[in-house]
Amino acid sequence: MKGIILAGGRGTRLYPITRGISKQLFPVYDKPMIYHPITTLMLAGVTDFLIISTPQALPTFQELLGSGEKWGVSIQYAGQSEPRGLADAFLIGEAFINGDPVALALGDNIFHGAGLGEQLEAINRGNQGATIFGYTVADPSSFGVVEQGPDGKAVSIEEKPKDPKSNLAVTGLYFYDDQVVEIAKSVKPSKRGEIEITAVNNAYLQRGELDLKVLPRGTAWLDAGTFDGLLQAAEYVHAVEKRTGTKIACPEEVAWHIGLIDDAQVRRLADDHQNEYGDYLLRLVG
Ligand code: DAU
Repeated sequence: MKGIILAGGRGTRLYPITRGISKQLFPVYDKPMIYHPITTLMLAGVTDFLIISTPQALPTFQELLGSGEKWGVSIQYAGQSEPRGLADAFLIGEAFINGDPVALALGDNIFHGAGLGEQLEAINRGNQGATIFGYTVADPSSFGVVEQGPDGKAVSIEEKPKDPKSNLAVTGLYFYDDQVVEIAKSVKPSKRGEIEITAVNNAYLQRGELDLKVLPRGTAWLDAGTFDGLLQAAEYVHAVEKRTGTKIACPEEVAWHIGLIDDAQVRRLADDHQNEYGDYLLRLVG
């Protein structure tokens, strides 16, 4: 399965601090925001990535992440000059996807919870239709909102409804089979002029091929794309890391844990960090 991370976009919700820089490069406490979607997809078994951002921001992403080789993965890059919508990822990424199934992760979404990696990996192996993740939130009106039938299956999805039919927000992590590019091509722009991911999900729903997984309450899902969201995400990562002595979304650790890199490579990567991040990496390999 291929993995696309969408890390460009308008940035209006964080304007003016996003002027000239992509928010997905902002630190969430001790790591750049983009480490979160990268590690989430790595845990799902993705090793082949495409990062989409604005042409202005791409060189900085390349400087930070390189070819991905240091973490045992492949990272390619593509520019998106205008924020044409989330489903644009499949048009920009068509050659990269090359007929394979693909996962899409939004660059400002953060997931953390026990068993999440195994769950995502199982979905990756199953690789059928589309899978979306619902998460209960107090105020769903700024998200995609999914309504469940009595059997728990999705019956409708609406983008940012004024009058939400449920409290179940659709998170920014999506798994699709090989139909997604063709479906994205058929999507018409919405009233806000975007090719909406919700339209793609509704197309799968109509085909009876949309699977809704509701994330358990113990899982944290944070959207770091607002002033409050960014601070809350940093506070969450800080609190959990300090309390447990383990790191959330550390790509070196995840790569080592799933066998993409060996002890010697972790030690080499630790040398880049003359701080507690490097000490943490050295402690991992003893
Ligand atoms: O966070 C989850 C929500 O993400 C879902 O519940 C919604 O259904 C989905 O539409 C999306 O809503 P947002 O309003 O949060 O999406 P936003 O336009 O803020 O874009 C999300 C990220 O994707 C953001 O980091 C910028 C990036 N992006 C966005 C667009 C529209 C791009 O890189 N390119 C784009 O064209």
